[in-house]
Amino acid sequence: MTDIHQELILILDFGSQYTQLIARRVREQGAYSEIKPFNFPLEKIKALSPKGIILSGGPASVYQSDAPLIDRKIFDLNIPILGICYGLQLISHLLGGKVAKADHREYGHAILEVTATDPLLENMAPKSKVWMSHGDRVEKLPPHFQVIGQTANSPFGVVRHQLKKIYGLQFHPEVAHTEQGTEIIRNFIYNIANCHGLWTPKSFIEDSVHSIQKQVGSEKVICALSGGVDSSVAATLVSKAVGRQLTCVFVNNGLLRYQEAEQVQAIFNNQAKFNFRYVDASQKFLSRLENVVDPEQKRKIIGDEFIKTFEAIAREIGDVTYLVQGTLYPDVIESVSTKGPSAVIKSHHNVGGLPEKMNLKLIEPLRELFKDEVREVGRELGLADQLISRHPFPGPGLAVRILGEITPERIAIVQQADHIFIAELHKSGWYQKVWQAFAVLLPVQTVGVMGDERTYEAVIALRAVTSEDAMTADWAKIDPEVLGRTANRIINEVRGVNRVVYDISSKPPGTIEWE
Ligand code: XMP
Repeated sequence: MTDIHQELILILDFGSQYTQLIARRVREQGAYSEIKPFNFPLEKIKALSPKGIILSGGPASVYQSDAPLIDRKIFDLNIPILGICYGLQLISHLLGGKVAKADHREYGHAILEVTATDPLLENMAPKSKVWMSHGDRVEKLPPHFQVIGQTANSPFGVVRHQLKKIYGLQFHPEVAHTEQGTEIIRNFIYNIANCHGLWTPKSFIEDSVHSIQKQVGSEKVICALSGGVDSSVAATLVSKAVGRQLTCVFVNNGLLRYQEAEQVQAIFNNQAKFNFRYVDASQKFLSRLENVVDPEQKRKIIGDEFIKTFEAIAREIGDVTYLVQGTLYPDVIESVSTKGPSAVIKSHHNVGGLPEKMNLKLIEPLRELFKDEVREVGRELGLADQLISRHPFPGPGLAVRILGEITPERIAIVQQADHIFIAELHKSGWYQKVWQAFAVLLPVQTVGVMGDERTYEAVIALRAVTSEDAMTADWAKIDPEVLGRTANRIINEVRGVNRVVYDISSKPPGTIEWE
């Protein structure tokens, strides 16, 4: 079997906000990519023997005393190199060119003009829009370098070494604003680094099934299935590999979305090869949450009760060796820029603590994947689109969307309001355009009039954000008519609500969830 990792594009991270995006763009074109910090040792780079290396952008200036640098010997490895923005400046600086502060920072669109024929620029229009974001610029090229593309403000827009496969771009090919960025990345992968497109959802599945089978042998495996994209795809992959040695456990904690328990059961009960266990533990969860209003306390109780429930099932099954965990690649990247401060602000529970406590070994079939790749793999595995394109949902569920006390009445209110909002988003085509959307029940009451009566009832906040990875997010500019219709329906149909507001905060400084 071909090793799908053998054609690696290594990305060295100099702290750009776009580093993960570069890795994803490379993979979308069919080559496996990994991100490493800029100071990843040369010996280790050699050991990985990548087909190509991309030097990311970054906020530093090469002439600062503490600038992140690389070993110059990297240019003698005979491995194709592409420097992006700071990466280009670094190449120039290290190989004898000159980099200086530009008179003014260049930020935004520019027109790239292709000035020479080169395999990196194959199929590029003579002129196209590119995205610039830099304060420094190359003033003099190192020896043996030539210009193959330029913009009005950057005479060294695209450069190459005349003898070696070393390239540099002043702009960012990885962002969507660069019209033909995908072509450039594709050309680098196929024309310069000579990859063969080994990285596809199909080949990933074959490879994983094989390695899961090897790892698990004839042991028993358990998986906590939440009905979300990650755990569903992970479970399906593992079940494809080891069939009935896997048991999937779906715990209803009483804090799920409207009819979610029924939907998840309908999907997985019908899968022939699945050992699916549904556990309704809602009464236990809700009784422990009575009178609890502190968000962290809610998370801890739910995490703890989940572990207890899950352990009990594992004991019933007996002799379980492995636990499936839906860890994704962004959780494991060691690099300068990928761990934002938000990662530690809330204690995200999921199955944290379980493996140690139960002495289980881990299977992490999604450890190498970005979220959009998980969706692709899910599609290839035949999972329903309704499941694949579902918005993320936090482990503690509606508990962190019911501000204040959690009571059966308040759960019902937020479920109904959320259901109406999501239905209206589907109807208007907005559901797919946002990363996440939901309703939050606030712990305040406000005055209103209904008919001739004065009312004093609860407020629902609607939250919808656009995002690439949940680390940063912008509030979604949803059509006011859609919001208006949603608010009308909620106030008319959900008893106990007389006001609806829309959250227009971005992350940072806000977070996506309210608790
Ligand atoms: P925040 O609110 O931190 O959310 O901006 C970022 C993403 O994480 C989800 N989230 C959670 N997921 N357990 C989870 O499994 C949690 O406790 C939790 N809190 C937030 C949130 O829905 C968003 O997608």
